[in-house]
Amino acid sequence: MAQGTEGTLAGATYNDRVVRQFALMTIVWGVVGMSVGVLLAAQLIWPALNFDVPWLTYSRLRPLHTNAVIFAFGGSALFASSYYIVQRTCHVRLISDKLAGFTFWGWQLVILLAAITLPLGITSGKEYAELEWPIDILIAIVWVVYAIVFLGTLAIRRVKHIYVANWFFAAFIITVAILHIVNSAEIPVTLTKSYSVYAGTVDAMVQWWYGHNAVGFFLTAGFLGMMYYFVPKQAGRPVYSYRLSVVHFWSLISIYMWAGPHHLHYTTLPDWAQSLGMVFSLMLLAPSWGGMINGIMTLSGAWHKLRTDPILKFLIVSLSFYGMSTFEGPMMSIKTVNALSHYTDWTIGHVHSGALGWVAMVTVGSLYVLIPRLYGRTSMWSTRLIDWHFWTTTIGIVLYITAMWIAGVMQGLMWRATNADGTLTYTFVEALQATHPFYIVRLCGGALVLAGMFLMIYNVRRTLQERGPVIDQPVMAPA
Ligand code: HEM
Ligand code: HEM
Repeated sequence: MAQGTEGTLAGATYNDRVVRQFALMTIVWGVVGMSVGVLLAAQLIWPALNFDVPWLTYSRLRPLHTNAVIFAFGGSALFASSYYIVQRTCHVRLISDKLAGFTFWGWQLVILLAAITLPLGITSGKEYAELEWPIDILIAIVWVVYAIVFLGTLAIRRVKHIYVANWFFAAFIITVAILHIVNSAEIPVTLTKSYSVYAGTVDAMVQWWYGHNAVGFFLTAGFLGMMYYFVPKQAGRPVYSYRLSVVHFWSLISIYMWAGPHHLHYTTLPDWAQSLGMVFSLMLLAPSWGGMINGIMTLSGAWHKLRTDPILKFLIVSLSFYGMSTFEGPMMSIKTVNALSHYTDWTIGHVHSGALGWVAMVTVGSLYVLIPRLYGRTSMWSTRLIDWHFWTTTIGIVLYITAMWIAGVMQGLMWRATNADGTLTYTFVEALQATHPFYIVRLCGGALVLAGMFLMIYNVRRTLQERGPVIDQPVMAPA
C-alpha cells in the first residue's frame, strides 16, 4: 500500500463500522442488564414485584441479569474495543469485514435467544453457562469466527511488535473458546433440554474451573486489554512500565487457571484440590496488583488531569476497584474466611465491586473516549454530564458494596451464633429481617448507577446529533 501524505496509508481505512455497532449495543445492553439488576434488588425487598408471572420470577430473571451484564454488555464492549485497538496498534484494517459483521449479528442473535429462553425457564442450570445446547453451538461458532478475525488481523499487522493490550485480548479469546466448549459438553435430550456429560463432583469442578476463569479471562483479561490502551491514550502518557505489563500478563494467565476450587470449599471436592485453589488465589494478588499499579502509575506526572477530566476519573477509579476486589478475592479464598462469607451477601458485594466498580467503570470510561472518535467529533457533547455520570456511578457503587459487605458479615455471624446449650441464637428469618435495611440501601445504589447510564444515553444522543460526517478513519502508517 502506498504511503499517503500525512502519515496515512493511501486509500486504506479502518473498519470502524463494526466498532460503532458494538459500542452502541454496549450501552443498550448495559441499560437493559442493569435495569433487570435493579428489579432483582427491588424483588428482594418486595417479593410481590414478580406479579405472579412465571417469567418475572426471581429465579428466571437472575440468570437474565448475569447473562445480560456479562455477555451482552461486557461482551459487546470487548468486541468493540478489541476490534478498535487491534487495528490501531497493528496499523491494518480488520482482516475480513464480512466475518467481523458476522460476529456482530451472531452475537446479537445469541443475546436475543438468551433474552427469550431464560425468562421462559429454559436453562442448563450451570451458572454463567445457562444457555441450552443449540445456543451453545451458535456461541462456539461466533467465537471461533471472532478468533479468526482478531488473530488474523494480528497476523497481517504492519509492525513487528504486538502491543500488550493485544496479548490480553488474544488470551481472553482463546481461553474463553476452550472454557465454553469444555464446560458446555452436553447430551441433548430435546431441542430445549440437555444434560452435562460430567457428573457429581467432576461436574462441579469443571463448572467452577469454567466459572472462575470466566471471571479471570472474560471479566478481567479482556478488560485489562482495554485498560492498557485507553488509560495511556486518555492520560497522554506511555504506559508506566512496559516490562511490568509483560510480567503482569504471563503471571496472571498462568495463575488464574488453578484458582477455581476456591468456589468449592468444604464440598466433596478432595481437600488437597481446595487447598491448591486457595494457594493459587492468594498468589493471584501479586499479578493483579502489579497490573493495577501499572495502570494507575501511568498517570505519574499527569495527576492534575484528574481534576478536570471525568473520563480519566472513570478509568483510574475502575483500577482502584480492581485493586480492591482482587485484594478481597484472595482473602475470601482462605478457607476459614470463606466459611463465613460463602452463601452470604459478602459474595454479592465482592462480585459487584469487581463487576460494577472495575468492569462497568472501565467500559464506560473507554466508551467516552471511543464514541466521539468513532463519530467524527473531537469530544463528547457535555463533559459536565460525564462528571455527573461519574459521581452517580461512584456513589451508587459505594452504597451497593458497603451495604452488601455489612449485610454479608452480619449474616455469616448470625447464622453461626450459638447459645450455651448449642442451639442457634438466631432463626434464619431473624437474619433476613436484619438484612432488610441493607437491601434498601443496595437498591438506592443500583438505581443511582442506572440513572448514570441514562445520562450517558442522553450525552451520546446529543453527540451523535452534532456529529460530523461519519467516515472510517484512514489507516496510519507505522512510525
Ligand atoms: C445497576 C446495577 C446492578 C444492580 C442493581 C445489580 C443487582 C444484582 C442483584 C440484585 C443480584 C442478585 C443478588 C442475589 O442473588 O443475592 C445480582 C447478581 C449478579 N450481578 Fe448484578 N447488578 C448490577 C450490575 C451488574 C453488572 C454491571 C455486572 C457485571 C458486569 C453484574 C454481575 C452480577 C453477577 C455475576 C451476579 C451473580 C453473583 C453471584 O451469583 O454470586 N451486575 N446483581
Ligand atoms: C485475585 C482475584 C480474585 C480472587 C482470588 C477471587 C476470589 C473469589 C472468591 C474466593 C469468591 C467466593 C467463592 C464462594 O464463596 O463461592 C469469589 C466469588 C466471585 N468473584 Fe471473585 N475473586 C477475584 C477477583 C474477582 C473479580 C475482579 C471479579 C469481577 C470482575 C470477580 C467476580 C466474582 C464473581 C462473579 C463471584 C461469584 C461467583 C458465584 O458464586 O456465582 N472476582 N471470588
